[in-house]
Amino acid sequence: MNHFINLKDIPAKDLKKILKDAKRRKKLRKIFNTLEIDKGAPLKGKLLIQMFEKSSLRTRLSFYLAIKQLGGGTLTLRSNELHLGAGGESIEDTAKILSTYGDGFMLRTDNDKKIENFQDYLTIPMINGLSPSSHPTQVLSDVFTIEEIKKTSISNLNITWIGDSNNVLNSLIAASVKFNFKLNIGCPKNYGPSKSVLNWVKKNKKKIYIFHSAEKASQNADVIFTDKVVSLNDKVNKKQKLLRFNKFKVTKKLMSYTNKDCIFLHCLPRGPEVEEKVFFSKQSKVWQQALNRTHVQKSILLYCFGKLR
Ligand code: CP
Ligand code: NVA
Repeated sequence: MNHFINLKDIPAKDLKKILKDAKRRKKLRKIFNTLEIDKGAPLKGKLLIQMFEKSSLRTRLSFYLAIKQLGGGTLTLRSNELHLGAGGESIEDTAKILSTYGDGFMLRTDNDKKIENFQDYLTIPMINGLSPSSHPTQVLSDVFTIEEIKKTSISNLNITWIGDSNNVLNSLIAASVKFNFKLNIGCPKNYGPSKSVLNWVKKNKKKIYIFHSAEKASQNADVIFTDKVVSLNDKVNKKQKLLRFNKFKVTKKLMSYTNKDCIFLHCLPRGPEVEEKVFFSKQSKVWQQALNRTHVQKSILLYCFGKLR
């Protein structure tokens, strides 16, 4: 079994194998209805338990469909309805029960330490469905979407991130090392990636390019990514932070600095960081991006259950 916690800890060859499987499976599903099961039902009888400590629409739905289409099922828990959430049961005992009843565990949490603690006691695979420091299932799926649209390896493309240095960007940085693509980041001063992330990039002999100008960061971009300036449960002065990011909005004008066929991606939900004119433009591929979560997560589940061919 394999956990799927952070892209930086997963070998590049495994990540590429997941994407190859997702591409094959997505093609085969063209004639299937939403809840029809893939040939061979590779996860027949398996239960994925999902737990959300923060809101979710896409991750919840896409994991539901992913495990269903592989022949298994899912149960969704809210931590505040468990003894764990109310402080009445330890992570150790909760993890042992989850491992007794279920076959896989997906956690969206407010606390990176909790993921580590669960890992110590679970005997079933665990998937990180977003934590304060990363969002690995989102970004692996985004690599898939980019290669699907651009019909080339992401290593041939210039990717630009405009906005906050958050969980999604951390995973995108890890992906830039694993998949070897050029990554520009446009963010205000003092809002760049953390020292530990930059040190990890350096240790891996990779360079990322940080600009304190959205225009400079966007030049020659094949893909423009952004995300909310204020993430879920981000304990900051929202008004002040939004003001600091005023010049880091994805506008029609900003898109004019990019390469001709540049696409726009956003993991959603969105805020004022993108103009509607861009969000609803032809260049915007956000709906395809959201739907691909299901396809890629199916192959992530197979990887976790040791069933990836
Ligand atoms: N992009 C994403 O993870 O969406 P949800 O928060 O709705 O799951
Ligand atoms: N960075 C965002 C992503 C939401 C899917 C957040 O953590 O709120």
